[in-house]
Amino acid sequence: MSEQRVAIVTGAARGIGAATARRLAADGLAVAVVDIDESATSATVAAIADAGGRALGVGADVSDRAQVAAAVERVAAELGAPTVLVNNAGVLRDNLLFKMSDADWDTVLGVHLRGAFLFSQATQQHMVEQQWGRIVNLSSISALGNRGQANYAAAKAGLQGFTKTLAIELGPFGVTVNAVAPGFIVTDMTAATATRMKVDFEALQKHAAAEIPVRRVGRPEDIAHTISFLASAGASFVSGQVLYVAGGPKD
Ligand SMILES: NC(=O)c1ccc[n+]([C@@H]2O[C@H](COP(=O)([O-])OP(=O)(O)OC[C@H]3O[C@@H](n4cnc5c(N)ncnc54)[C@H](O)[C@@H]3O)[C@@H](O)[C@H]2O)c1
Repeated sequence: MSEQRVAIVTGAARGIGAATARRLAADGLAVAVVDIDESATSATVAAIADAGGRALGVGADVSDRAQVAAAVERVAAELGAPTVLVNNAGVLRDNLLFKMSDADWDTVLGVHLRGAFLFSQATQQHMVEQQWGRIVNLSSISALGNRGQANYAAAKAGLQGFTKTLAIELGPFGVTVNAVAPGFIVTDMTAATATRMKVDFEALQKHAAAEIPVRRVGRPEDIAHTISFLASAGASFVSGQVLYVAGGPKD
């Protein structure tokens, strides 16, 4: 088991992060399930353990440098050096530009962009030491522009430039860096969007599916499957890419 790779998945208490943590554990990795509140990670950790995998729940606010440093140190001490990182934690603070507050802007940029920066910086030393690593950042189709999401679109587009730059800097050390840009995925995040829009979530899904070429909305497992590929040993020549996983072409 000393050869077992160690992954960190942020925002893994639920949704896409939880599905990704479970999938990477099924792939044979030990997984650190990071979320803002450690107690919220227990369901994902238990699901992995019940399936015979190895997981550790860690509480950390991804936008806080000290908490990120402590989380990565704890993972290295209790699971082993992390060489796979999935920057997935995310929040929405949707508002039209003229109503968007400083807090709406700073919170979204802080969690998505600063969070990915801090976790990538704290884990890269382990990857460089082992001359092997995988970083996958969660972008979004919203990077292409979406009404009411100036903050989120800026963060998700920013993550694409961040991804390509890290791919250039870390490639010589055996580290690949890619982004996955999901379309409509059924999670608490899209359910909250339906509530805010005052529309029924089932109706919103039906409406979204009709616009998607494969005629269905996405599931967290669709994204987990893609991340599993990008994190695999065989994907070592795929780097600096943004892979849209949206049931049809987007970019
Ligand atoms: N659901 C979609 O349709 C969709 C589409 C495109 C991109 N994404 C992106 O995928 C990622 C996951 O989305 P989801 O739909 O599973 O969302 P979700 O809201 O269901 O889960 C997000 C998780 O991130 C955690 N989190 C939030 N802020 C945090 C912080 N500061 N520190 C640590 N953890 C924090 C939350 O507690 C939660 O467990 C996000 O980056 C999101 O922007 C989602």
